[in-house]
Amino acid sequence: MKKRVSKKKRSSGPPPECPMHSASPTHLNSSDLTYNDYLKIPEILQLQIPQSRPAHHDEMLFIVIHQAYELWFKLILHEMETAMDQMQQGNVLRAHHFLKRIVEILRLLVQQIHILETMTPIDFLEFRDRLTPASGFQSTQFRELEFAAGLKDEKYLKYFIKRPEFVKLLKRRLGDRDLKSCYYEMLRKLGHKIPARAAKIESEGKAREIAKILESLRPIYQNPSDHLPVYLLSESLIDFDMYLTLWRQHHVRVVERVIGFKMGTGGSSGVEYLQSTTSKKCFPLLWQVRSILEKRVD
Ligand code: HEM
Repeated sequence: MKKRVSKKKRSSGPPPECPMHSASPTHLNSSDLTYNDYLKIPEILQLQIPQSRPAHHDEMLFIVIHQAYELWFKLILHEMETAMDQMQQGNVLRAHHFLKRIVEILRLLVQQIHILETMTPIDFLEFRDRLTPASGFQSTQFRELEFAAGLKDEKYLKYFIKRPEFVKLLKRRLGDRDLKSCYYEMLRKLGHKIPARAAKIESEGKAREIAKILESLRPIYQNPSDHLPVYLLSESLIDFDMYLTLWRQHHVRVVERVIGFKMGTGGSSGVEYLQSTTSKKCFPLLWQVRSILEKRVD
């Protein structure tokens, strides 16, 4: 039997207010439980409040699609915590299991953005002004997701300046464990020749040190069948990276289709900025390792 990680001992994890993790969840009497009560459907359905007056027909689509994304982001963050717990306990295939779920959600999120193409550019202009200066830059959960994957960039904190509680949350994420550091530490504990604090070394960008990490990843990819669980997990991290990039690429094309090259409501150049994010990679060395593989000699 594997030991369960005590929630108290964790250096990081979900916010304490998360109902799934709260010490005293509000239980409903089971004989009275209904679908709507359990899922809080009436409460959720109260939360779509258009800003346009009179309400523009398409604003409902705009609100619902963003809320749906945020719910999925919540689940992704929840699954990421467990995937990291499993990596820290050396449960490679269990970590893989949770990552595969995240990847399936991301696959859905790539498709979902296209629903917005049914909104004409001219219809969006009719309520876009009412959204300013609100912007995707202020999606706390999206930034948490990036930070928890290892893409930690302090510059994004400025978009939360009016909400100190979000700044606090994101700062905590900046200092916390992430998928990349957990992955490297797990490999080291399993006996792979990964240097200690490899994620930090990687972020410092010194070519010689990075080459050492790459060399230690090479056997996993050179002989996948000798390292099958780790290979499967590594490839689920690549899937994670790939679907996140695909989301960025699909989002930027939809944005271009709807607002062209207008500036973003968050003050960025819009399409130009979003295009620049499509080259971000959470696990660059897992991509690079393919370039140093050598043909098998039997
Ligand atoms: C018509 C629909 C949409 C338009 C025109 C749009 C436009 C933009 C623009 C211009 C930006 C750049 C930041 C800024 O200056 O505001 C941005 C960022 C962002 N948007 Fe959208 N967006 C749309 C739909 C969505 C949806 C459905 C989501 C789902 C969550 C989303 C999530 C984000 C996120 C997370 C960012 C930050 C990306 C980053 O910094 O890498 N957007 N969006």
